[in-house]
Amino acid sequence: MKVVILTGAGISAESGVKTFRDNHGLWEGHRVEDVATPEAFGRNSALVHDFYNQRRRQLSEVIPNAAHQALVELEKYLGNDFLLITQNVDDLHERAGSERVLHMHGELLKKRCVWCEVVTPCETTTSLDSTDLCEACGRDLGMRPDIVWFGEMPYYLDRIEIALRDAEVFIAIGTSAVVYPAAQFFAMASMHGAKTIEVNLAATARSNEFDQRLFGPATETVPKLVAELIAAR
Ligand code: APR
Repeated sequence: MKVVILTGAGISAESGVKTFRDNHGLWEGHRVEDVATPEAFGRNSALVHDFYNQRRRQLSEVIPNAAHQALVELEKYLGNDFLLITQNVDDLHERAGSERVLHMHGELLKKRCVWCEVVTPCETTTSLDSTDLCEACGRDLGMRPDIVWFGEMPYYLDRIEIALRDAEVFIAIGTSAVVYPAAQFFAMASMHGAKTIEVNLAATARSNEFDQRLFGPATETVPKLVAELIAAR
């Protein structure tokens, strides 16, 4: 059974990481256009760095929850038949023990030089600044968080497309399914024959289009679903 999982902010919510759209459409008090676009970075890199520096620091205050851990169990059980695609930029899946993870929207614990494109790891204590020099090419004014901003191309789309074509089960967990292309993954998987399951705190605008729905907190629903998938195999 080939299983593809897509996670969103909802899976990390009970760990204490804020979701995006549950907070009146604001990201910790900021409008998306002010902190998560290449234009915003060009206009006010200090504000953008400050926003992501804070979010990076917050990672040291949160730990993976039972939903992250349940996905590790499923991965151990399925091996190569398991793929986890996450829109999250936190590292909670990795800290729980997940290995087959694709961060399609980038990672807070990585930085990228806009000049030479070299990506290097960060610590939770890393505070990026526009005066930082790139460790690879030595230029300044180019270090940015390795985050996919609005208007930019998500990562791993080729690999994701292949996985969605082959998937027998596709599960979306804790995502409002409004940001593309992730919002259409379930439809692509379904078109190729996968059973689709939505796991969310509450119904979303797309719930009716999934084959199965499971509503409730991810720390309860995900372990339950994983146990059912393993038992049914
Ligand atoms: N358990 C399950 N689901 C939850 C929980 C919970 N404890 N808490 C919240 N949710 C659900 C909400 O109901 C909502 O549908 O998680 C979803 C979070 O939605 P968003 O905040 O929109 O997050 P996400 O879907 O991950 O956003 C996608 O948008 O802004 C961009 O790049 C950013 O990756 C992000 C993308």
